[in-house]
Amino acid sequence: MRDFATFEERLSDWTAQAMESVFGLEGSDVALGVTPTNNEKFGDYQCNAAMELARTLKKAPRQIAQEFVDAAELPDFVERIEIAGPGFINFFIANPALADYLDALEKDPLLGAEAVGQGKTVVIDYSSPNVAKPMHIGHIRSTVIGNAIDRIYRFLGYRVVADNHLGDWGTQFGLMIVGYRNFVDEQALAVAPVEELERIYVASYNRSKEDPTWREQAKAELVKLQRGDPENRALWERFIELSIREFNTIYDRLGVHFDLYRGESFYNDRLPGIIAALEEKGLSKESDGALIVELEDEGMPICIVRKSDGGYNYATTDLATVASRIEEYSPDRIIYVTDERQQLHFRQFFAISGKLGLEANLVHVWFGLMRLPEATFSTREGNVIKLAALLDEAEARALELVKSGSPGMPEAQQKDLARAIGIGAIKYTDLSQNPQSLVTFTWEKALNMEGNSAPYLQYAYARISSVYDKFHAQFPGTDLAECSLRIEQDIERRLAIKLSRFPSAVHAAAENYRPNILADYLYDLAQIYSSFYQNVPFLKAEEGVRESRIRLCRATAARLRQGLELLGIETRERI
Ligand code: ARG
Repeated sequence: MRDFATFEERLSDWTAQAMESVFGLEGSDVALGVTPTNNEKFGDYQCNAAMELARTLKKAPRQIAQEFVDAAELPDFVERIEIAGPGFINFFIANPALADYLDALEKDPLLGAEAVGQGKTVVIDYSSPNVAKPMHIGHIRSTVIGNAIDRIYRFLGYRVVADNHLGDWGTQFGLMIVGYRNFVDEQALAVAPVEELERIYVASYNRSKEDPTWREQAKAELVKLQRGDPENRALWERFIELSIREFNTIYDRLGVHFDLYRGESFYNDRLPGIIAALEEKGLSKESDGALIVELEDEGMPICIVRKSDGGYNYATTDLATVASRIEEYSPDRIIYVTDERQQLHFRQFFAISGKLGLEANLVHVWFGLMRLPEATFSTREGNVIKLAALLDEAEARALELVKSGSPGMPEAQQKDLARAIGIGAIKYTDLSQNPQSLVTFTWEKALNMEGNSAPYLQYAYARISSVYDKFHAQFPGTDLAECSLRIEQDIERRLAIKLSRFPSAVHAAAENYRPNILADYLYDLAQIYSSFYQNVPFLKAEEGVRESRIRLCRATAARLRQGLELLGIETRERI
């Protein structure tokens, strides 16, 4: 745990106490703290309590604010306080306090964030593609967004169990098995396994539609598989192994690692127990041969937990999964990341698991589907983009950029850089948007060197690193730790305030499951840095000022690097 408090924490404590004593409030449930302002005209932090208190105190908010400002004695880290608009109270942090705070942050590995996750466990269920089917755009977004949440939670000290809940069970395996026996092209299977498995499935499915004997055969093979027939079992295991191997090549390229690959089948043995518990608690009832749970009181349609043919459903498996995760990990929270189409499913099984008394804090993080304008991807077929080809295309386009930007760079380094930029560009496009809004992917935006993109931030980071290197070349032996920070000019102050807000951005991203809050922060930071860089001299500044500016530069680089890493985006010192 860090041994210092952020301005937000200090000010929030102070305003809450001061409000209570000025107005004689006792245990009020009004939020009396402060939040960072969006516009520096309104100071660095603002308190909205005057508006909130108007009803309780029966006074106009502006009057409340004025009385507060007149009566309160400012803490020494606040330079001044102002009232704005209907009664906002704005705080301006004193420059020396800002410098001291940045000093303290420099030694903190979390850059001021608080290890709120110490001693807590979260299970994050993400990516979770289906065996023998290519990942679709929903799985890609789940992988990228889920992994950013995973990284942010780990950073905040949580023990994270990243679980890839593969779709590895279901009626499709009967069709897969007959299909495989009749249509497999072993060579194709060796080259592109998932594509070949998908082809087998589609061919078998089409045949089943016109051929009742085929349907019967598929059913019989499914039953054999379910009963543990060794041959069918071996085939099924092979489908899984081939699929995972291919998914892993993608995960490797994306820098994504899972702690567990527990597919739906892992929970098969528990399904009858879930049904028994539902029946015992009187939560389920028969309906047309199926077993259902009514959720009318919760405003939701019925949920089928056992089909009329005795098979179990997606929801049943998810209930068993919750029970198993609670038993094994006692998680403080289980976070599921999927596309928006599964909202009802999650609401339903969350409600049922509450009724079953499964104590867990379950969170569904959903995102909209990404819009892919026609002609964006040469790799697109129907709804499916071939992910590997998409990543290839990103790297190839990035390589063009790198070659024109850094023609003298050795080829191996150009390629390495292009990989970081290409993959970063794909991820950042996803992560820089509110997950729940409609995202339209274009290469122009993803690779825009001037706009809000991964390459823009990666270049900003490399440029800052080079300033820092030049300083050390020109002034060798300077120990920056010995040089004090001076926050004097407006632009230095703006940058310093932004640097001090890294923790708020990380915490807000974690609490809201929105990596885009962190992405926005990084983009703003890079922009403020760039106007700092353009407006004041660095290496030519007088001694003392120069070292202080280099320290601000270094602090900016540290946040860009750490922030991008939390988004799963790599940086390079040299571009
Ligand atoms: N395999 C599912 C799909 O592709 C996603 C699974 C999400 N996780 C879960 N526990 N239901 O749609």
